[in-house]
Amino acid sequence: MGRQFTKHFTTFPTYEGEKINLRQLRLSDGKDLLTYYNNPMVYRYLDWYGPQDMEMAERVLKHWIEGYEKGYILRFAITEKETDQIIGTIFLTDVTETKGEIGYELSQSYWHQGIMTEALKEVIRIGFEEMGLVRLQAIVCEDNKASQKLLEKVGFIKEGLLRSYECHMVTGECKDMVMNSLINAGK
Ligand SMILES: CC(C)(COP(=O)(O)OP(=O)(O)OC[C@H]1O[C@@H](n2cnc3c(N)ncnc32)[C@H](O)[C@@H]1OP(=O)(O)O)[C@@H](O)C(=O)NCCC(=O)NCCS
Repeated sequence: MGRQFTKHFTTFPTYEGEKINLRQLRLSDGKDLLTYYNNPMVYRYLDWYGPQDMEMAERVLKHWIEGYEKGYILRFAITEKETDQIIGTIFLTDVTETKGEIGYELSQSYWHQGIMTEALKEVIRIGFEEMGLVRLQAIVCEDNKASQKLLEKVGFIKEGLLRSYECHMVTGECKDMVMNSLINAGK
């Protein structure tokens, strides 16, 4: 761990897209993070319930923001173009010289508009073109049909089932997960 991200970028990478922008998270995003996570539909396939109060939201944001310099997570704010408010996040983590893992979540008010397709395509481009990774992977709860379809739509291939792989931070319940991967054709 260390310079996984900073060796590729002089400043945190940003993106101005058609539907959304991607930027570095800020501590001031706490209120919006708390608002969209206050919905079981958003966290039902995740391994946590999201931040429970402002203090936790800021603690989590600080951890994610520091992850860029320290090399453990490159987590983007997905923002609404007009307001700059965050409506979700997308991230690369567990990054080595050749591999990385992708994850994401979006406010339910913005589902089914192609937003995560756009964000995911940009993070794949960053991983492959700017960081030179060979393999991206995404591990999805077996029941999470929306996420599975999204991944397949952008080219990920389902590799197999990881039994009792992800255990919930609060309940301890362990779920079977599907491993998906995308290989950099240019490598
Ligand atoms: C998974 C998630 C990120 C999808 O985001 P989204 O912006 O709504 O996805 P898109 O609009 O880009 O849709 C991509 C494709 O996924 C599929 N899809 C999206 N939502 C779906 C749903 N509820 N049921 C079935 N398929 C769905 C569609 O095939 C869609 O492609 P199409 O519109 O061309 O048919 C969003 O539902 C979410 O944040 N869920 C909660 C958090 C989560 O589960 N994160 C993933 C953990 S692995």
